[in-house]
Amino acid sequence: MATLKILGVSGSMREHSRSRRALALVLEAARERGAETHLLDLHALDLPMYRPDGAKDAASVAAAAEAVNWAGAFVLASPDYHGSMSGALKNFLDHFWTEFAGKVFGYLCASHEKGLTVMDQMRTAVRQCYGWSLPYGVAIHGDEDFDAEGNVSRPAVERRLRMLARDTVVYGSLIRDQFARDLVALDEPHTFAARYRK
Ligand SMILES: Cc1cc2nc3c(=O)[nH]c(=O)nc-3n(C[C@H](O)[C@H](O)[C@H](O)COP(=O)(O)O)c2cc1C
Repeated sequence: MATLKILGVSGSMREHSRSRRALALVLEAARERGAETHLLDLHALDLPMYRPDGAKDAASVAAAAEAVNWAGAFVLASPDYHGSMSGALKNFLDHFWTEFAGKVFGYLCASHEKGLTVMDQMRTAVRQCYGWSLPYGVAIHGDEDFDAEGNVSRPAVERRLRMLARDTVVYGSLIRDQFARDLVALDEPHTFAARYRK
């Protein structure tokens, strides 16, 4: 089985973001399970607001597009902003909606509640773009689940983040490989992947 390439997308605009720290832990755990990973930090990248009729030649858009096309699976991380994903993450999803078919998405959210509405929104947007979602997400509490150095301090939360990494690697590889087989299975015309044949 080919190595799975996982792109972690951090949607926080905060310098010392908790969701970014948790995402880094997930990506590290995914590497331990044989994946290649890359973290796309929207705070550092500063993508322009998506404009359907606007110029598409910004360097940040090109860098993000390269990372998206490289990836075989994704982990999206967002803070909870008024029960919603961050504007930065939504803007990222507006830019790159055509590239998600056949790819698995995992979710994590920094929230004072459980981040359920945030992860539902991310899942809805990804479904509209024909990505495959893991059926759960991991919520972290920015004030309670980290120590003074910013490391995850609650074992139960760390276990869930490691589970997210494991499941993204395993299910991400399965879906990617089946999608690739379906793309070339010309004797199977009625598959979801068939519409993506060139
Ligand atoms: C504009 C704004 C709106 C927020 N709304 C909520 C909210 O509705 N529910 C909640 O639990 N936390 C809310 N928060 C708190 C953040 O989700 C929380 O601080 C989170 O840990 C930030 O994640 P980060 O460290 O990755 O940026 C809000 C924070 C901001 C700045």
